[in-house]
Amino acid sequence: MCGIAGYIGEKQALPFLISGLKKLEYRGYDSAGIAIYNEGRIEVRRQVGKIAELERSIRGQVIEGTQGIAHTRWATHGMPSNRNSHPHRDSDGHIAVVHNGIIENYLELRNELEDKGYTFTSETDTEVVPNLIAEYFEGNLLEAVEKAKARLRGSYAAVCMSQQDPDYLVGIRQDSPLIVGYGKDGNYFASDIPALIGHVDRYTVLKNGETAVIDRDGVTIYVDGKAVEPEVMELTMDIDAAEKGGYDHFMLKEIIEQPRALKECLSGRIAYGKRVIDLGELKLDAAKAEKINKIVMVACGTAYHACYVGRYVYEKLLRIPVEVEIASEFRYRDPILDEHTLTIVVSQSGETADTLAALAEAKRKGSHILAITNVWESSIAREAHDVIYTRAGIEIAVASTKAYTTQILAIYLFGLYMAELKGKMIRREIQTIINELYRLPEKVQQIIDDNLDIIKEMADEIAEFEDAFFIGRDLDYVVAREGALKLKEISYIHAEAYAAGELKHGTLALIVDRVPVICLCTQRNLEEKMVSNIKEAQTRNGQIFSICFEGDTLVPAVSEHVCYLPKTLDLLAPILTVIPLQLIAYYASVKRGADVDKPRNLAKSVTVE
Ligand code: M6R
Repeated sequence: MCGIAGYIGEKQALPFLISGLKKLEYRGYDSAGIAIYNEGRIEVRRQVGKIAELERSIRGQVIEGTQGIAHTRWATHGMPSNRNSHPHRDSDGHIAVVHNGIIENYLELRNELEDKGYTFTSETDTEVVPNLIAEYFEGNLLEAVEKAKARLRGSYAAVCMSQQDPDYLVGIRQDSPLIVGYGKDGNYFASDIPALIGHVDRYTVLKNGETAVIDRDGVTIYVDGKAVEPEVMELTMDIDAAEKGGYDHFMLKEIIEQPRALKECLSGRIAYGKRVIDLGELKLDAAKAEKINKIVMVACGTAYHACYVGRYVYEKLLRIPVEVEIASEFRYRDPILDEHTLTIVVSQSGETADTLAALAEAKRKGSHILAITNVWESSIAREAHDVIYTRAGIEIAVASTKAYTTQILAIYLFGLYMAELKGKMIRREIQTIINELYRLPEKVQQIIDDNLDIIKEMADEIAEFEDAFFIGRDLDYVVAREGALKLKEISYIHAEAYAAGELKHGTLALIVDRVPVICLCTQRNLEEKMVSNIKEAQTRNGQIFSICFEGDTLVPAVSEHVCYLPKTLDLLAPILTVIPLQLIAYYASVKRGADVDKPRNLAKSVTVE
């Protein structure tokens, strides 16, 4: 949700600012801009559209300078346009700011500043920030930023520079991520690690309320005006992690990476000592687990769908009631939780504002919080009592794929861990599931290797329609929801998922004219029921695309297109079933000429409520 980059050092700033923005483009791509300081002047260039448009608009221009800031936007306040693009400057043009987040009291501040004679040229909330800094500016940018910061309400990560007090950049952070990078020939700001790979070997994740000053010689972090020792981490990822590596799209690369991501997620987590599942130093020990009588799972989008898998799995394994909540609804509903409730928040980025707010609400009510996230030291990881990292590796495509399957795997592992702690399963039962978990990476690989032709055929057919329906029962229904989200998100085909038994209560009215009905059929005890539901759709002229296990004969007999999956336990099927659904969405999007990695109106990491 908006990407920020900043650089000050020995090299020209422009190349890093553009390359850094490109690595952050998944965070927003409505417009982009840069501000570079040189010889007493800040040069600003802004352009509506993707970063390629900005590049085109400045081609051939000489924009020199060894310090600058840059931004790629996901519009909240003010439609995408040149004048609403960042960087924004104060009325006199001597302070430039890039910002990610929402300044909630911007109208009040804007009125106050307008009364004092400041003029505004955009509809954004951000423009109050440079003007407020200008209001407090008495020759020292850092002091002015600190004073302005005290007046801001809402969420922000912002980087500021001044042409009257140049030679350093100031970054501030509250509830939106901002990272400081330490390079050999300069220092950096970025919203996320991919922008920094190849430029720095160490970094610090700014904490809420901290201010960072970077100059050509170093980095200083301040808390309440006092310099503090930052926590500095090694950046060990190589450039391949943030590149397409020969694939046409990040989404395809990330789908293909799933066998490896699943292996990483499993690695070292199965022990053979006292306990079978080793999830590190979780504070949720046997004594605490004993008292847990309810689990609440909270997340958004794809992570929310992973939670739904959790609900079905935990209720089966643990026999504890599980509630699943959309994070943006959760905190405003005054949810009923206490110290006997375990709240599990799931988030790829670890920065989703709604999920973070839900976490805070559950914590306030005394619930123990477990985070399942992909991003080390993210806000959600820091705020939770316990964390399980999914270890999927950087996920860049807006459509989440490997994050989802590793979230589900982490959910299984935690379920088995709890089953062990609470004595709900015997070791042999746990071991049977674990043995099969170990086989999942190679089975995912098998689906990718053996089924691409049939999946592409299915996608080509589905891409011809404007509507599609996904149906399934039990865990298949839950995965159907993720399949529908994936398809609509990147191909713009209207897609809905239904519990198969529910079709006849209304939606069957829409099953006409060969509309695609994608049927997930991996829950063996419900197979005959599924076959009946498929027949109901087929009889109404729906076109049946089925996904079932190898060896199944009932489902293929009532289907026009079939994708066979290697067999696994019904309980673990979601990790396999979703793979063809991800690929169908991918190839349908390609066929329809959509921008797969950057679907319209969306952004990867949603850091506003
Ligand atoms: O980073 P998070 O997992 O918290 O993000 C949650 C959703 O925004 C995300 O899963 C979104 O639904 C994806 N674009 C779906 O592909």
